[in-house]
Amino acid sequence: MLSIFKSATPEALEDIHEEMRVRQTDRFIFLFSMGSQFDHLIVQQISRLGAYCVVADPSSVKAEDVRRAAPSGIILSGGPASVFDEPPPFDDAIFDLGIPTLGVCLGFQMWAKHVGAEVAPQSKREFGVHTFRIKKGGSSLFEGVSNETQVLESHGDAISDAPFEILGATDNAEVAAGHAGHLWGVQFHPEVTDTLEGGKMYDNFLNICGITERFPARSVAQAKIAELKKIVAGKRVLIALSGGSDSSVVAYLLKEAGARLKGVYIRGIDRPDDEVYVHEYFGEENWIELEIADATDEFLKALKGHASMRDKRLAMRGVYKEVLEKKLKSWKADFIAQGTLYTDIRESGHGHATGARVAEIKVHHNVKLGFSVPEIAPLETEVKDSARGIGRELGVPEDLLVRHPFPGPGLVVRIEGEVTAETLRIARACDEIYIEELRAAGLYESVWQAGATFTRSMHTESKGDGAGLGAVLALWAVWSVNGFTARFAQLPYDFLDKVSRRITNEVREVAAVVYRISDKPPATIEWG
Ligand code: XMP
Repeated sequence: MLSIFKSATPEALEDIHEEMRVRQTDRFIFLFSMGSQFDHLIVQQISRLGAYCVVADPSSVKAEDVRRAAPSGIILSGGPASVFDEPPPFDDAIFDLGIPTLGVCLGFQMWAKHVGAEVAPQSKREFGVHTFRIKKGGSSLFEGVSNETQVLESHGDAISDAPFEILGATDNAEVAAGHAGHLWGVQFHPEVTDTLEGGKMYDNFLNICGITERFPARSVAQAKIAELKKIVAGKRVLIALSGGSDSSVVAYLLKEAGARLKGVYIRGIDRPDDEVYVHEYFGEENWIELEIADATDEFLKALKGHASMRDKRLAMRGVYKEVLEKKLKSWKADFIAQGTLYTDIRESGHGHATGARVAEIKVHHNVKLGFSVPEIAPLETEVKDSARGIGRELGVPEDLLVRHPFPGPGLVVRIEGEVTAETLRIARACDEIYIEELRAAGLYESVWQAGATFTRSMHTESKGDGAGLGAVLALWAVWSVNGFTARFAQLPYDFLDKVSRRITNEVREVAAVVYRISDKPPATIEWG
């Protein structure tokens, strides 16, 4: 994990200076992580722009610490708190230091309140993609940005009575961007890809901070391999392989680092073709030994009687850990490796270890499991697109890299209510038809992820001369870059028509098929 700046101790200041020496720069940015789902994307964005970003803890860093560390700029991320009724922990005196500061969402509301604006819950909350209109030309934050541009918003509070310059608005937010001296703010999230010109805005902010000389990031893959070599060269590393891209990328990283590798594929709650991919790409390789662990019975036993998604996720996690733990012992592994991404850690309510509250969106199967041997998760600072980029650099077969993401808890989160052998069979059959048709229509690679959820909603049906009740199956597909945000994919009606006909004809238990048209936020990508 990234190290977090908590106070200006001599050691912490030396760490920053050491990193600046390596990067041949004397400038850096403090990112106060207020608990946003997206704050890691800010770090990535700043790094991509060739500047150095240090994550700071808002609950412990005081104005005096900031003054002593002397960053060239400060960014305050968004977060789940509300300045209205749950002010986040932060020393407001930091706003008065005169250092260029960019507040994002909650961060903007924090300084807006500090300078005297009204911040309160609004009647029309803003989630998802909106059009931002720049009010006043000539602002250096929006230099080179179109006058009307798409942005992603995710907030319930709004700013009004602003005693500062308003730079732009959206339909539901009159104060969508503002400026007061060295303080800059945006109500939307420039770090997500749905904010089409967000990269330009961060670039502009770095210029405002005087960070004009940029240094390209070193090859991430080579840096990771060098780090891994120190730990795993010649050691026995067991890796949980899923047939998807993340665990495959980790396997290739470990191969390059000289580890002795054993891959374990856990069967039971998987898609119809996952095992096929694992066999094809890892079954015959001489650098990795492949073992298939059939845990179908264990999963079904653990899932019996559980209806809530959280309980099912926890039950699945238990079996996942147990199976791997057994293999670790029998193979006498030194380490366990997983393809955990930053997204998984963040949504599980972990992330930058700051004192700001982070919302638990869902318990991911692979986070904080506490194995008996040390865990290696070299992608835990990455998101989907950057992990794929690393894979490409390492020569991971494209076929594996472009596979749709699939959640570790597998079909469990795509079945409402109790998971049984029967509901698994139905979910698999529907998934197979849907994915087969996406490929046949040439749509598979143009959507980021797609799935079918077997719901507990019952629909009256008339099949043939009979009548009765059948289940409702929900299809979904999204466009995304890294899974932090997503837009529902506008699949052609004739395609949906074909899939619906096939599913209702071929899967006896399904009476009706619906298509989900919600973005993330507010919905998540998976149903459960
Ligand atoms: P959500 O549903 O949270 O998903 O919007 C974001 C991405 O993460 C995947 N996902 C998981 N991946 N373990 C994983 O390894 C999990 O527990 C898990 N839950 C969701 C999801 O499929 C999507 O790609």
